[in-house]
Amino acid sequence: MKIGAMKDPVDKYFFGTFMHTPALDQLDIMTDTLISVDTTGTIVSVLSPGHPDYKDSLLNARQHKNFISIAENAFYLPGLIDTHIHAPQWPQLGKALHLPLQNWLMDCTFPLESKYQDPAFATAMYTSMVDTLLANGTTTAVYFSTVHTRATDILAELCVQKGQRAWVGRVAMDDHSQCPDYYRDASTQQGLLDSEASIQTIRQLKGNESQRVKPILTPRFIPSCTDEMLSGLGGLATQHNCAIQTHCSESDWQHQYVIDRTGLRDTEALDQFGLLTRNTVLAHANFINHSDMSLIQKRGSGIAHCPLSNQYFAGSIFPLRDALNLNVHVGLGTDISGGPSASQFESCRHAISGSRMLESGVDANITANQRGTADARINYIEAFYLATAGGGIVLDEPIGLFKEGYQFDAIHIDASSANTNLLFFPELDSLTDLFQKTIYAATRADISTVWVDGIVVSN
Ligand code: GUN
Ligand code: FE
Repeated sequence: MKIGAMKDPVDKYFFGTFMHTPALDQLDIMTDTLISVDTTGTIVSVLSPGHPDYKDSLLNARQHKNFISIAENAFYLPGLIDTHIHAPQWPQLGKALHLPLQNWLMDCTFPLESKYQDPAFATAMYTSMVDTLLANGTTTAVYFSTVHTRATDILAELCVQKGQRAWVGRVAMDDHSQCPDYYRDASTQQGLLDSEASIQTIRQLKGNESQRVKPILTPRFIPSCTDEMLSGLGGLATQHNCAIQTHCSESDWQHQYVIDRTGLRDTEALDQFGLLTRNTVLAHANFINHSDMSLIQKRGSGIAHCPLSNQYFAGSIFPLRDALNLNVHVGLGTDISGGPSASQFESCRHAISGSRMLESGVDANITANQRGTADARINYIEAFYLATAGGGIVLDEPIGLFKEGYQFDAIHIDASSANTNLLFFPELDSLTDLFQKTIYAATRADISTVWVDGIVVSN
């Protein structure tokens, strides 16, 4: 074998019960399973009883200094992937949810985001946020930061330091008619220069040689950016092979604003600016129709479905089942602080309950058979798939599954703490029930250890 073709040596062995969702409607529960992970955090093998190498490998692994095994009734899940977070809105979590989107932006959110001009403020808020999200099992986060380059660098540095897998985007917003004087790019040109500089800085950060933390171009949404900014960012995405994120068709107001200004639907306009690529994450997309979905699917872009935020700001429920039926890539997002929760388990719950409401309809004044949208509901397995493997597909990364060649990003669920709401009755509950209960009831208290690339990042 050529040296270059040799695999990295195994660095750690994880043993116990692993649960994951390799397809939208498939839950795999692997008991007494041995996963070996190399020095770069890549899964080298997944061996379950019955595999010809299982017995010898397990004997050998038990002698290894890094043999990690967990108690019975505890299990590993893939780390949660949050595809849409506004990092600067962290101190606003659980506040200001009574206003419509455009007032919420102008009256609460832009004044808060402008404070990140101060690096000390940014460091304090972002430290609290990254620590708390890791403790909640969010091993991968896709962040909007603010317009400020220094605060954006600070966020990326903290992710590197704390070991969170992340995409970090300096927010571009230069349109004078939609952005206040105190919180806006100094000029279109300066905004483009700052976004480009941010790509270089993040890629060259010390400690980020593996590129676990990546830059992402971030036009806030079409209403806050000029055409020149949008096409400039599209050009930078191609030039630097960089990911893109933005908000798309989130509310009636945003959706109509784009049509009035450009004569195009949001997805069509983004596409014309070169912003709809395989590495684009579109937040919300509640008002997209089948033609938008086909375009998104053709480009290979993904959607960050943020069901809790949608209850406050979108005024509608995302047509999730339609998007899935058309093979659009979909992940889940908290949309902190549009969604007032730091937990992707909450996103799963709201994706399920929202889809149920869409299917049944909600207005009791309408007769039952005309009230809802047929076949809209999803179940707990589908929701968890979106929060893990689905997010991995949106981001085009080998994450979200326990599979050879994937990165070992995982959370250890242990419902034995005295204060748990995750109640397991072995005489009544199967392991599938335990998984289901976890989706519906797990809190941070049930997550005892979190790994990214095989390294402990929270415990
Ligand atoms: N549209 C533009 N900016 C934002 C934001 O910060 N949050 C949400 N939910 N929608 C937006
Ligand atoms: Fe958002």
